[in-house]
This record gives sequence, C-alpha cells and structure tokens, in this order.
Amino acid sequence: MKILAIIASPRGMQGNTGRLLEEVLAGVEACGAETEILSLRTLNVQPCVACDVCHVTGVCNIKDDYESIKEKLIACDGFILASPNYIFSVSAQMKALFDRCNGLIHCMALKGKYAAMVETSGGGEDEEVLKYMERFANTLGANSVGGIGSPVTGIRTFPDEMDLYAKAQELGMDLYRCISEKRKFPEQDSFICGFSFRMSGLVDFMQECWAFEREYWKKKKSV
Ligand SMILES: Cc1cc2nc3c(=O)[nH]c(=O)nc-3n(C[C@H](O)[C@H](O)[C@H](O)COP(=O)(O)O)c2cc1C
Repeated sequence: MKILAIIASPRGMQGNTGRLLEEVLAGVEACGAETEILSLRTLNVQPCVACDVCHVTGVCNIKDDYESIKEKLIACDGFILASPNYIFSVSAQMKALFDRCNGLIHCMALKGKYAAMVETSGGGEDEEVLKYMERFANTLGANSVGGIGSPVTGIRTFPDEMDLYAKAQELGMDLYRCISEKRKFPEQDSFICGFSFRMSGLVDFMQECWAFEREYWKKKKSV
C-alpha cells in the first residue's frame, strides 16, 4: 500500500505541521504501508492561470512540478494533506496545488482513494481548515478518514502533546485500515455522488471544447 503525504509549510518537515505529520506517518508505517513525503517547499507549483488546457488535453500547460505530483496522486492508495493554518485557510503553497487540480476535480479522478488531513495553527480555528481540506479531497472523489489539528505552544510543541501524538498515530493507522477494508462513508458518498452529477453535467455542457474530459467521462460511464 502506497501513502503519499503532501506538506505545504514553507518550513517543510522542520516546522510544526511537519512534527504532527511525522506522528501520522508513524501510524501508517507501523501498519506496513510505504510512505512518500512531497514537500511543496522544495517543489515548484505555480498558480493556475485559467487557460483551460487541462480540460482539453488532460495535461497542464504550465511546466513545473504539478504533473509529477498529479501522477503520484493517481498512483497512490491514499494521501495525506498537511498544511499550517494561514488566515483561517491553507497556505498559499497548498492553495496553488488545489487550484491546479481543477482538471482532476472535473474528472473526480481520485474516486475510491482515502485521505487524511493534518493542520497546525498559532491559536486555533483548526477545524475549519481541516474541513476545507476534507471538502477538497471529496471533490476529487476521495473519502476523508478524518483529520488532526492543533494550536502550538512553541516551536514543534503542542498542548497535551502525548495525547495528540497518540491520536495522530491512530489517524495514520485508521487511514491504513480504511484502505484495506474499503470503508464506506455514507455522508461523504452522498456529497461525492451529487458533485459527480454536477461535474459530469458541466463536462457534458462543455463537450465541444473539453475533449479530454468528455472522453474521460464517456469511459467512466461505460465501465
Ligand atoms: C502567513 C501566516 C498566517 C498565519 N495565520 C494564522 C491564522 O490565521 N490563525 C492561526 O491560528 N495561526 C496562524 N498562523 C500561525 C501558523 O498557523 C502556525 O505557526 C503553524 O503551526 C505553522 O506551521 P509550520 O511550522 O508547519 O509552518 C499564521 C502564520 C503565518 C506565517
């Protein structure tokens, strides 16, 4: 089983989010899964320029690291999104990646995969950032198994640290279990189903222009 972790802190794995992510990965690895960390700090992911080329060809027109990240997302069994809280949302590095995934979202190309979320903050509002990342995973067609977020008490330290780390490891183990047993999340599945209807309708409406996505949905519907 292959788990991909994407960390969007400018401090990479050396920051607070990286510290909490380490514990989630420890849980995943304890179950025997293979992990890979992609740090957006060292990767080049430019903002989307709304050229719509990805909808037409299936490949982004910007020549940077996005396509290789996309291929890794498509190839993994599960993924972890880890971001610091920046003004009640994800960091700009993570948002740039989310926007670049617009073509994947139109195709709901990560359907059947599972994801977990990791977030840290200076002072709170952890839940709303976790929820936002979960919603993003759902728009790709993936189920979220849950998230862990916490304010910090200093550099790479947290309140009730031992309890937090135990929960983080448990989240990692649960990600592994969800993938193994193909666990169902009826509430998310109902959102995914509605969103799927919306995306296939959008692609149908744009079928003259968006050739790649038209063919993608045609194949998907015939399976
Ligand atoms: C640009 C910026 C914006 C931030 N916005 C918030 C915020 O809105 N709320 C909050 O609680 N903390 C905020 N913080 C604090 C970070 O979320 C916090 O320090 C986090 O743990 C940093 O994680 P990292 O070390 O992995 O980068 C902000 C920090 C920066 C640099």
